[in-house]
Amino acid sequence: MLSEEEKLQKKADIETLRSWLKSSKTEPCILPARKPYKLVSVLLPDIPSHIKFHMSYFFMALISKIPWSRLKIFLFRLMGVKIGKGVYIAPRVFLDGMYPSLIELEDNCFLGGGCIILTHENTVDKFRIGPVKIGSNSVIGAFSIVRSGVTIGSNVQTGMGSVVGKDIPDNRVAIGNPARIVKSHKKQITENISLITT
Ligand SMILES: CC(C)(COP(=O)(O)OP(=O)(O)OC[C@H]1O[C@@H](n2cnc3c(N)ncnc32)[C@H](O)[C@@H]1OP(=O)(O)O)[C@@H](O)C(=O)NCCC(=O)NCCS
Repeated sequence: MLSEEEKLQKKADIETLRSWLKSSKTEPCILPARKPYKLVSVLLPDIPSHIKFHMSYFFMALISKIPWSRLKIFLFRLMGVKIGKGVYIAPRVFLDGMYPSLIELEDNCFLGGGCIILTHENTVDKFRIGPVKIGSNSVIGAFSIVRSGVTIGSNVQTGMGSVVGKDIPDNRVAIGNPARIVKSHKKQITENISLITT
């Protein structure tokens, strides 16, 4: 049983998350793990939120298995992911099922095979949630991982297998784990790629 003080703390945590979800989300939301109650009871405080979450997770995982980009894009949009025109999503890309509406893929961006876009993460002492934006004409290299709260600019290339934990400005090439910027360029990357995805 929670004490009165713990109940108030839990209520405050639920309110922090709710107001962040309604805000412009310029920074990720970080909720500390607190001993007396589980984080899940803050994230999913009632039965409707449990049902919504599990349905979303199930369908997002299922859609991620579809190999065809156009069908996937249609279904991801229904789940709330913001996807612009001319986007290509390769097979085995995984988009996080927790708050899919926090993911935005701008026009003509290209997600390489097996890459992972995360909107949340749990650690031993906290829970983090944040929007991810991939700018127009950017190519996310195969098997890259993008952390919650990260904005990748326009015309960016990430190397295959990169782990992107911080924002990347427009017109950059970033590689490695953690991804580091190795080049700047002006050439529009997806001009050539669109030839093989249509
Ligand atoms: C990052 C990338 C664009 C660089 O290509 P490039 O400009 O032709 O660069 P190079 O092949 O000349 O490599 C430059 C250096 O970076 C290193 N490098 C290249 N890709 C790397 C990667 N993913 N991770 C770590 N190092 C990498 C190379 O080993 C080389 O190192 P060196 O200078 O010590 O010899 C390319 O390697 C890549 O990863 N492309 C991703 C393509 C992709 O997955 N597209 C979507 C699916 S088709």
